[in-house]
Amino acid sequence: MNIQKAAIILAAGKGTRMKSSMPKVLHPLGGKPLINHVVDTCHNAAIDDLIVVVSPESGAIKDVVAPARTVIQTQQLGTGDAAKAAKNDLDGFDGYIFILYGDTPFIKAETLGHLYTQAQKTGLAVLGFETDTPQGYGRLLKNSDGHIDSIVEDKDCTDDQRRITSCNAGTYCVQGDKLFGWLDQLSNNNAQAEYYLTDLVSIAARDGVSCAYAMADINETVGINSREQLAAAETILQQKLRSNAMAQGVTMIDPDTVYLSCDTCFENDVTIEPNVFIGPQVTVGQGTVIHAFSHLEGVTIGRHAAIGPFARLRPQSKIGDHVTVGNFIEVNRSEFKSGSKSKHMSYIGDAVIGEKTNIGAGTVFANYDGFDKNTSHIGENVFIGSNSTIIAPVSVGIGSIVAAGSTITDNVSEDSLAVARTRQVECEGWAISYRERKNKDKA
Ligand code: UD1
Ligand code: MG
Repeated sequence: MNIQKAAIILAAGKGTRMKSSMPKVLHPLGGKPLINHVVDTCHNAAIDDLIVVVSPESGAIKDVVAPARTVIQTQQLGTGDAAKAAKNDLDGFDGYIFILYGDTPFIKAETLGHLYTQAQKTGLAVLGFETDTPQGYGRLLKNSDGHIDSIVEDKDCTDDQRRITSCNAGTYCVQGDKLFGWLDQLSNNNAQAEYYLTDLVSIAARDGVSCAYAMADINETVGINSREQLAAAETILQQKLRSNAMAQGVTMIDPDTVYLSCDTCFENDVTIEPNVFIGPQVTVGQGTVIHAFSHLEGVTIGRHAAIGPFARLRPQSKIGDHVTVGNFIEVNRSEFKSGSKSKHMSYIGDAVIGEKTNIGAGTVFANYDGFDKNTSHIGENVFIGSNSTIIAPVSVGIGSIVAAGSTITDNVSEDSLAVARTRQVECEGWAISYRERKNKDKA
């Protein structure tokens, strides 16, 4: 296979400012780990061969980015050293290699396309951006030919250079057969005693290769180093996700209070009331209403369903068309087939609920015996009376009725009535004699 584009994604930095036991790039943004934003952008830019550089402590990244490969940078000696870690994997690769930072999630695929076009002109291009507050960024020193002579890190800038507002976004595109030879020439003779990837530009110049550049919008170059920056990025992303959803025909009464995930899918005419949280892997069908204060993750919801208010839908659940899952209902690994209902205060765990079945208020599926989770099957057109406990595994046949307050431990056959509670006893006039006795005792 002749791969034209590869990418090295740097994610071995310490991420100290996150103060986290989890690698920085695994923190979620829009329900998706930071690093996967960059991985997905590479795929969208038709870059198929991806190598993610991680530290020895951040092995967990491997599973999250697979099938992209990971390589380990043994010691964090700087961005230039990190890029070198991919040398064995890309040895002999003669297409173009992108280098990106794993903590910069908003770069667009089309921007990588512009960068590629520029790189093809000379063999090397960097992505820049303009900002009024360039502090902390490497500055691009442009020459009169419209190329970049070098990149100077903020800490190494002269006072004049510090006033430059064209900055390095930290994304590069390099001719593959040149990259590793240039990286071998990096030194750490600078203010931070690090191997700077940015020195590639002056090293290439010595080799007669000028550095071209493409510019990105400043919003694309946001990097995440702290929890506060993560929250700020989340705000930006949520606004985008909400406006995309509304553009597709979703009504939101108070969009600022609705939280979506990058992979949330909506059909049109969905309505979302205020204060709704939608985690990863949620699909919502046409005409469905998500009432206020509902929390959804890992659930596929059909058309014209009504969810909440205050519903919690948990992963591996499926809600059919015209289903009602009302207030204070928790659904976990369960399926509601079309037209079924559970309207008030219930726990539905590991259950399959048949079409047009009604689950009464306060019903609990006791799905866990302390060791295993067990599944219950409720047929279609069943009526489960209020405050029933269904002790799994059990099945309730089509068309049957479970009396309110029952504790169901055995299968119920079709079209029958199951009553599983003690019979009511009535003692006529007992209350009168009781009161008389009590009043006499008091006097
Ligand atoms: C870098 C650039 C700077 C640019 C800025 C944009 C260099 C020397 N400087 O600075 O010009 O304006 O990004 O945000 O490249 N990493 C490793 N191994 C290491 C060090 C870093 O994998 O040994 C990874 C980090 O995980 C991170 C990325 O490289 O994803 C950038 O590292 P960081 O230390 O944040 O670089 P900056 O100082 O921000
Ligand atoms: Mg940084």
